[in-house]
Amino acid sequence: MTLMKVEKLTKNFGGLSAVSGVDLTLKNKELVGLIGPNGAGKTTLFNLLTGVYSPSEGSIDLVQDGTTVSLIGKRTDQIAELGVARTFQNIRLFKNLTVLDNVRIGLHNKYGVNTFSSLLRTPGFYRAEEKMTEEAMKLLEVFALDEKADYLAKNLPYGDQRRLEIVRALATDPKILFLDEPAAGMNPRESVELTQLIRQIQKEFDLSVVLIEHDMSVVMNVCERIYVLEHGRLLAHGTPEEIRANKEVVRAYLGGE
Ligand SMILES: Nc1ncnc2c1ncn2[C@@H]1O[C@H](COP(=O)(O)OP(=O)(O)OP(=O)(O)O)[C@@H](O)[C@H]1O
Ligand SMILES: [Mg+2]
Repeated sequence: MTLMKVEKLTKNFGGLSAVSGVDLTLKNKELVGLIGPNGAGKTTLFNLLTGVYSPSEGSIDLVQDGTTVSLIGKRTDQIAELGVARTFQNIRLFKNLTVLDNVRIGLHNKYGVNTFSSLLRTPGFYRAEEKMTEEAMKLLEVFALDEKADYLAKNLPYGDQRRLEIVRALATDPKILFLDEPAAGMNPRESVELTQLIRQIQKEFDLSVVLIEHDMSVVMNVCERIYVLEHGRLLAHGTPEEIRANKEVVRAYLGGE
């Protein structure tokens, strides 16, 4: 079942085409890799798919309960509400809030706690708050961060901050999760552990995940399908075996490895 369909997606910055005529389909519950050399347009593609940039050309459709919704012209928060979450290549957390509060913020959409009920401290507000804390703690447990729930985000070790960002994205209850180099800056052991964890949550939470990752062995190991970008264009897509055997990909990307 198709969840997202992207056609001829293009983003020009002045004379530079950062993303150029990209077609991409995301199915229900699959783990897809997005690879390509530095500057290939991977992050720009994520920025287009999550509403940070509006495309110069092309379409992005989300299929929900049999209906197709175009994401063109939608704001980032509207896209998040439709079930699309992401993490950033450069960590973005509320650094001076606790680990727990970072996750609770992600849960706000789902629980519909509005300003009115929080100002008046209605009984409904307290119930929702309690439930949110419970659920946030459960999510933190999955990532072994529950014991650090009271830490300020800025005081977490680097690897924990990266994982907290994923927890926060998960808290918004997404159907699609875009992860921009979640293992960047981690040591090889942490990186392998994180990738296993991504696999696990993809299954457990019934998600479609798109993973940008530079470590080829990691991508080849965990992804069911892989898209390869080069200079903004889609060079190839296919199973790990197909990508490994693709001469163009080997020339552009794998040649040196
Ligand atoms: N806001 C912007 N304004 C102008 N040029 C941009 C902007 N964002 C990205 N670019 C350019 O678009 C191209 C693609 O950049 P992008 O960050 O998407 O690459 P990437 O594949 O994510 O690279 P990396 O692996 O280094 O993260 C680069 O040439 C970059 O300089
Ligand atoms: Mg990038």
